[in-house]
Amino acid sequence: MKNNYYITTPIYYPSASPHMGHAYSSIIADFFARFKRMQGFNVFYLTGTDEHGQKIERAAKEKKKDPLVFCDEISKTFKDLTKTLNLSNDDFIRTTENRHKKSAKNIWNILEKKGEIYLSKYSGWYSVSDEAFYTEEELEIINGSKVSKLSGSTVEWVEEESYFFKLSKWQEPLLKFYSENQDFILPISRKNEVLSFVKSGLKDLSVSRKSFKWGIPVPSNKDHIMYVWLDALTNYLSALNYPDENDKMYKSFWPADLHIIGKDILRFHAVYWPAFLLAADIKPPKRVYGHGWILSGDQKMSKSKGNILDPLQIIDIYGLDALRYYLIKEVSFGNDGNISKEKLENCINSDLANNYGNLCQRVVSFSEKNTNLKISNNITFNEEDKSVLSNYSKNYDKIISFVDNQDINSYINFVVEQLFVANKYFNDQEPWKKKSDLLRLNTIIYTSLELIRKVTILLYPIIPDTSKKVMKIFNLNLNDIKFESIKNDEFIEKDSQINKIGILFKKIVKND
Ligand code: ME8
Ligand code: MG
Repeated sequence: MKNNYYITTPIYYPSASPHMGHAYSSIIADFFARFKRMQGFNVFYLTGTDEHGQKIERAAKEKKKDPLVFCDEISKTFKDLTKTLNLSNDDFIRTTENRHKKSAKNIWNILEKKGEIYLSKYSGWYSVSDEAFYTEEELEIINGSKVSKLSGSTVEWVEEESYFFKLSKWQEPLLKFYSENQDFILPISRKNEVLSFVKSGLKDLSVSRKSFKWGIPVPSNKDHIMYVWLDALTNYLSALNYPDENDKMYKSFWPADLHIIGKDILRFHAVYWPAFLLAADIKPPKRVYGHGWILSGDQKMSKSKGNILDPLQIIDIYGLDALRYYLIKEVSFGNDGNISKEKLENCINSDLANNYGNLCQRVVSFSEKNTNLKISNNITFNEEDKSVLSNYSKNYDKIISFVDNQDINSYINFVVEQLFVANKYFNDQEPWKKKSDLLRLNTIIYTSLELIRKVTILLYPIIPDTSKKVMKIFNLNLNDIKFESIKNDEFIEKDSQINKIGILFKKIVKND
């Protein structure tokens, strides 16, 4: 039986069209989904849209649209983006779907039945933009208006009857859970943030609203609608056909292996979500990774700041794989990263065109000129060949642990290093001087091709389309993209023909 792996992105608010920040989280999750699949895991990769709440209701009203019609339109742009980004997601969930409403109501009923929810009155600050309650200490005055220190978004005063979740009761169990699951929150810096928030004391959480209508009604009291975060977080279960706990999807994939999120929504995923689940007697997810922000200039890119980079435009100009590679390599995973056209162009020129593209072209053209694209039957590796090839088998376990620790930075560093190693190998071996020694000439070509094949497998989760193209050199297809095969130094068929391929990445000519 195959091992299962469940990975999710946040479900995005369809209050405006997707931007680079959303693309980033989804591409990162796609990297993990594709790697785990090629490692042999049965992967379920979920993304979707978070469609209820006051933020959406107001955005729809502004456009004079019915909220559902409004959501239908914008949710579609998020769904279309999954195709444009070549995401390998297995499902796309919308919280306005019946399967989700059923699941969210079920969670509510369990919490209520267990006495975890009580009716009272909320009076305090609320940010519609963040869909979050803030205490006085979490706010500051900027330019005369009260804003969240965390997000900078404005708050308004809310006073109404509200159901509360007994979050305070879960403070100690949460701390115990974190200490028993040391890697629940990554990276470590974020974990410390969460620990100090929880240790500073948890107050009960308002989990229903009365003053607007756009949401899932509380099953036992239709005057209230469920707090949009309790509704939204439950999506991770809804997509597995929860509440049917005997369902194959639920049994195979819950608890989730990895929730990929931005650090802006850490508190919801690392505090509220496990508290809701512990209270409902459902296992919390195994890990929450809160990545940094994509900055534009030195500010967070966001709809409300209006400083957004449109991924579609970038893809139009540079191509999808260039964007995917750039986001994964140049934004140090876990930290904030500034994205700029100049850095993107440098990255395309140096890594993709020179380092990778050129390696593929050079080796194939050399084979074309000297062996008519024929792979010999007669190959004998010497110590130098064996040494470069063994970089892969030797580091096999390490690469898996990079992925399982979400250490994308070490993963990509390894890939870039291997691109240098392969180029250097081809240069140092000087096959053009070995024309009278066919055994050596053929062995150098074969070794170089094996190096290309191996590094292409590692590049597959990052630049899947290009990797598939490169695999065509060897007449290999997607089914041959198996991580395990990097340990095999004689995977490419002998006594066969290889194929020429077109330019993989065009160098960007800079006119400055
Ligand atoms: O918060 N840099 O949705 P949202 C990096 N619906 N990532 C960014 C980013 C940026 N500048 N801007 C957005 C919500 N993101 C809720 C989530 S989940 C149950 C509900 C990414 O549309 C990042 O993953 O505001 C961030 O956490 C998410 O988009 C927020 O998207
Ligand atoms: Mg947001």
